[in-house]
Amino acid sequence: MIKVAVLASGGGTNLQAIIDVIENRELTGITISMVLSDNEDSYALERAKKNNIPTEVIKKSEYTVREDYDKVLVERLNKYEIELVVLAGFMRLLSPVMTKAFPLRIINIHPSLLPSFPGLDVQRKAIEYGAKFSGATVHFVDNGVDTGPIILQGTVPVKDDDTEESLSKRIWEIEHKLYPKAIGLFAKGRLVVDGRRVTIKDE
Ligand code: GRF
Repeated sequence: MIKVAVLASGGGTNLQAIIDVIENRELTGITISMVLSDNEDSYALERAKKNNIPTEVIKKSEYTVREDYDKVLVERLNKYEIELVVLAGFMRLLSPVMTKAFPLRIINIHPSLLPSFPGLDVQRKAIEYGAKFSGATVHFVDNGVDTGPIILQGTVPVKDDDTEESLSKRIWEIEHKLYPKAIGLFAKGRLVVDGRRVTIKDE
């Protein structure tokens, strides 16, 4: 069993999607050992508690220096012997303290087709840019903003009458399938990383 930590700051719908596929055994070989947030009001913490998953909070307000936060984060993850860190709406950039502690062991999901629209408010940016397709990207995390090697992507159309909300909803639906799939591939040791390129063994 691969011990996973899910890190979330917000609503935690991706966390819920992962919990659900573990529960119905579509995703095997991993266990969520803990859910951690930088925001004590994150609904992801409630979702974890409802499913008897240990929770941890490291408040962002208590650390002004990113590296100091990340040192505490690494200690907390090591306490649970975490092998894979899954960022699910964790609203912090990670410093080298984290990426060196977990090389190619941190993954993120981002609501655009990277490398288009990294950063924040990306659904709105995709609409304003006039993109005809958007989607979601699961990638390994490096020290850039949404720059790490891409594991999986899924696309959705951008419709003429889309609002930020309607496009976000459409993207969420594919995120909830894509993220468990990527975690499953990691758990089975099927992700092969060669520089920027990630290939899937035995596909
Ligand atoms: C998702 O859109 C994800 O792509 C982005 O943050 C959002 C998190 O949503 N990184 P949720 O908290 O999982 O509902």
